[in-house]
Amino acid sequence: MAVGTSEPSTSLSPWKSQLTGTENCSCSGAPSDSSSESLKEQLRSIDEVMQAVAGTGLAPWEIHRPQQFVRDLVRKGGFSGRVLDAGCGIGDNALYIAKACPGAEVVAVDVVPRCLHFASTKAGLRGMRGKLTLAAADLCNYDKLSISIQQKLPYDIVLDSSTFHGFPDHQRDCYVSTLSRLLRAGGLIYMNCMSEEETRPGGPRRISVSELSSLFNPSTGWVVEAVVDSVAELHPTFWGGRGKARLFTIRKL
Ligand SMILES: C[S@@+](CC[C@H](N)C(=O)[O-])C[C@H]1O[C@@H](n2cnc3c(N)ncnc32)[C@H](O)[C@@H]1O
Repeated sequence: MAVGTSEPSTSLSPWKSQLTGTENCSCSGAPSDSSSESLKEQLRSIDEVMQAVAGTGLAPWEIHRPQQFVRDLVRKGGFSGRVLDAGCGIGDNALYIAKACPGAEVVAVDVVPRCLHFASTKAGLRGMRGKLTLAAADLCNYDKLSISIQQKLPYDIVLDSSTFHGFPDHQRDCYVSTLSRLLRAGGLIYMNCMSEEETRPGGPRRISVSELSSLFNPSTGWVVEAVVDSVAELHPTFWGGRGKARLFTIRKL
């Protein structure tokens, strides 16, 4: 995939070859050509890939610990008030924030119900049930968000850890519009996205500073307050566990 381009895709499409074993793989136990072909057939559409891996605990980004940039933000006091984890996956970031930041009221949302089941099981194992709200919802469809999400309005902070960079162009506007309706004026988004400096093949879309700024700028009701080099941590079998990323801090005007 060319970096910084606008390839129409849903969030998992760029991972597809890796997830289906169609990328070069000489490891023992890899699917044979025929089984990998049949797997490819079964996973014809990207949505099927999404359904197949998100929330299984096996997706490349499901690392079973909070992302380093989230831990850094927690250490700097970055989370307080009502916090929305947008596209929470299996919940490690949300659970960490809920535990480490007693002043934060955390709502974790994902469109894949299995992610929430996984997160809920983790919450139970860690004695965290009831310490955060877990909800299945499509953040591209504000009108269908559940009461549990809407009753916490307005949010002070949105965490987007590798969610935005998965959206195809046609979903970006409705996602950003949902975040805008959920956040209070002056509220912040912490958005960690894969950067175009990550040149290895595969992975999600890369988001350049100029691309991000074309969506989030004063004329659209936002200001990008900070841009820092960051890392998207992955399972060690993908890119050695680290992709080059950027953390954007975006304030709603
Ligand atoms: C790359 S994963 C990152 C998960 C998590 N934030 C993390 O850091 O591990 C992106 C997540 O966004 C979720 N997602 C994608 N589209 C969504 C939507 N429209 N509404 C809510 N969640 C969505 C996916 O199901 C997936 O769990």
